[in-house]
Order: sequence, then structure tokens, then C-alpha cells
Amino acid sequence: MSERTLVLVKPDGVARSLVGEVISRIERKGLKLVALELRNVPRELAEQHYAEHAERPFFGDLLEFITSGPVVAAVVEGPRAIAAFRQLAGGTDPVEKATPGTLRGDFGLETQYNLVHGSDSPESAKREIDLWFSGL
Ligand code: CMP
Repeated sequence: MSERTLVLVKPDGVARSLVGEVISRIERKGLKLVALELRNVPRELAEQHYAEHAERPFFGDLLEFITSGPVVAAVVEGPRAIAAFRQLAGGTDPVEKATPGTLRGDFGLETQYNLVHGSDSPESAKREIDLWFSGL
């Protein structure tokens, strides 16, 4: 059974010209792109996207960062797409959690600048896809 997930290449990934690398790994894994767009992120969208982190100490920095430059937003589809993309991304901390061979493990150094976002559950995926691509 196919499912969908929301993927973001965050401002650090776009600034470092890693968009092609991310998309290439998604495609080579066998996942399909069903939406893809370079977007500036209004603060309100960032707040809604990261609403579950509103009480965290890093929330302000997170909003600042995600609105600091364009992101690439994508909807990715395939069997177990949510887990499959999280496998490609690697753990949140690019050094302590992500292993080499993953996007964060290969290209990241800091938790805040961890290159990509992927939905973490079917509920988040639905909420995030509605938020970023309403009507899809
Ligand atoms: P993401 O998968 O987009 O979901 C929440 C984001 O918060 C996470 O990736 C990181 O970029 C960021 N984040 C999580 N923990 C920390 C932390 N301790 N310090 C700074 N940023 C964090």
C-alpha cells in the first residue's frame, strides 16, 4: 500500500546546493515525487509546521532558520514512504544519530542545520501535506 510524506530541503540544504543530491536519493530509493516546489516560508507557515515544538527552547531559532532562505518542499509517495524517507535522512542529530550513508550522516554537522525534514507519522504527513500543498 502506498503512502505519502512531506519532505523539505531546508535552507541549509538549498544554500549548499544539495537539492539534486536529496532528490536523486529519493528517486534512486524508488520513491516518486508527486509535488515539488521552491518556496519562501512565511513565518506563519513555519509556526504551523513546527507547532508541536512551540514550547521547546530552540523554537525561536528553528523559526528563524527555516524562514532564512528558500526551501524545497516535496510530496513523496511510495510503499512505506514515511519510514523510507526517514531512513534516507538519518537521525535528527547528524553526528550522534545519523549514520554515514544517510543524507544527514553524509552532509550534516549540527542538529539545527540538518538539511532535510520528513514527516514522522501518517498523521503528521497528512497535516503537513495539507499545510504545504492544500488541495493535493
Ligand atoms: P525536523 O525533523 O525538521 O523537526 C524538528 C527540528 O527541530 C529538527 O528537524 C531540528 O532541525 C530541530 N531541532 C531538534 N532538536 C534541536 C535542538 N536540540 N537544537 C536545535 N534544533 C533542534
